[in-house]
Amino acid sequence: MIGRLNHVAIAVPDIAKARAIWRDVLGARVSEIEDQPEHGVQTVFVDLGNTKIELLGVLGEDSPIRGFLERNPSGGIHHLCVEVEDIEAARQQLRAAGVRILGSGEARIGAHGKPVLFLHPKDLSGTLVELEQA
Ligand code: CO
Repeated sequence: MIGRLNHVAIAVPDIAKARAIWRDVLGARVSEIEDQPEHGVQTVFVDLGNTKIELLGVLGEDSPIRGFLERNPSGGIHHLCVEVEDIEAARQQLRAAGVRILGSGEARIGAHGKPVLFLHPKDLSGTLVELEQA
């Protein structure tokens, strides 16, 4: 079922500052800051060649990363995203195995315009895992 690591997401308190460190100090190729109003976040993608880092900043009052940043004021690793070929097949297999899926339990369109699922951290060693249809 499981494919390649697509990205590691890091929630950050100041996305412009985090972007500048990855670009200017570490010398990485970075995207522009993009608002994702339907997800309540701002994103920057850092291209590492074999995978990406997704910097996540707060957008709006109901941002899903607000609580995380209250617990981790300097930011921190928020989730891992791994590719799957068929998200619906993955969903059914996971549900049958008792792995909990966050939200409605159905795939939805993620920050890159592809169907995603988020799996409950308590079922995956304390790590929030996003599955994205490649
Ligand atoms: Co992600």
